[in-house]
Amino acid sequence: MNTSDTLKRADPTFEPQTHGRALRLQAYGGPESLTVDRVPTPEPGPGKVLVKVTAAAVNGLDWKIREGNLRNIFKLELPATLGIEMAGIVLQTGPGVTGLMRGDRVMAALGGCGAYTDHLVIDAEKLVPTPAELSDVEAAAVPVAAMTAWHVIQAADFGLSGRRVLIHGAAGGVGGFAVQFAKAAGAFVYATASTTSLAHVRALGADEVIDYRHQTLEHLAGHIDLVIDLVGGEVIDRSWMLLSPEGLLVSIAAPDVASRAPQGRRGVFLSNKPDTPRLAAIAQQVATGALRSTIAEVVSFEDLPSAIERNRTGHAPGKIVADFTL
Ligand SMILES: NC(=O)c1ccc[n+]([C@@H]2O[C@H](COP(=O)([O-])OP(=O)(O)OC[C@H]3O[C@@H](n4cnc5c(N)ncnc54)[C@H](OP(=O)(O)O)[C@@H]3O)[C@@H](O)[C@H]2O)c1
Repeated sequence: MNTSDTLKRADPTFEPQTHGRALRLQAYGGPESLTVDRVPTPEPGPGKVLVKVTAAAVNGLDWKIREGNLRNIFKLELPATLGIEMAGIVLQTGPGVTGLMRGDRVMAALGGCGAYTDHLVIDAEKLVPTPAELSDVEAAAVPVAAMTAWHVIQAADFGLSGRRVLIHGAAGGVGGFAVQFAKAAGAFVYATASTTSLAHVRALGADEVIDYRHQTLEHLAGHIDLVIDLVGGEVIDRSWMLLSPEGLLVSIAAPDVASRAPQGRRGVFLSNKPDTPRLAAIAQQVATGALRSTIAEVVSFEDLPSAIERNRTGHAPGKIVADFTL
């Protein structure tokens, strides 16, 4: 019996409730700015689906939004529900929705905020079926990390076969997939990680893993065709000299990377974009074990504020995921 069957038969909360929990940002600030509120269950309009969210993964964007760092980019009306990816079960489809039924297991990147809630209304076209082999916690860990890593690898305007790629922040959610995609494309992969994560990154397939706290990168000067920056800050400043003459630096952490590029160096910033067919294909690869997705920690809904803070201050390799059924 799969999760949706179990829920339909055994869990009375599978029936839509009039209210549910939402983790909402009340004002820009620290972890205390987030509160668990009771909110009314929304109705799905045309083309929309009401999903009972059962798991959602933590992202760096959560605390960046919480602190107000991105208030000029993400215009949020407060209080606002945070969370950008989830897995759950279809409760109700809105007018015009085809191909989805009550009870279907689904996963998605929202392309915006609102996943930390029991009842989510989302565009039907953003939903991907959750492979039977994956639990909802496992599914929720995939969309943002895997799709962002996919786009980063695609950003190179040259084939990666035989090229040298350096991935900064390889132990994180995005980094874990980026290492695997770069290896699959035939690259020689250098990766940076902290001491406790070195073995993990090596096991993902990186050819040379560098402890960013205790080792330098000088031996790579002029040697790297593609730098993938998942960290930002001074990591970028130290990376320009590592690039080969035609090399490219792609950052997902520093929107100003292009303007920081010295004369003759190329740097581009990249944002994750929804691509449901690609996400469906990647989810299948995770389900078969062809791709590894790493979960650092599973927390409860109520633990989300401290988990979001741990994403900011450092955590074990992989993703922190909230299991809403705990
Ligand atoms: N532009 C977009 O669309 C987009 C999409 C997704 C994510 N992001 C951003 O991209 C970044 C990475 O995301 P993520 O989900 O992979 O984050 P994550 O899971 O928190 O991973 C970040 C990793 O960076 C490592 N790290 C920290 N400082 C480092 C340094 N100086 N050198 C090398 N590694 C370092 C950390 O390792 P240790 O803890 O071991 O130090 C951690 O493993 C975040 O800033 C996130 O907000 C942007």
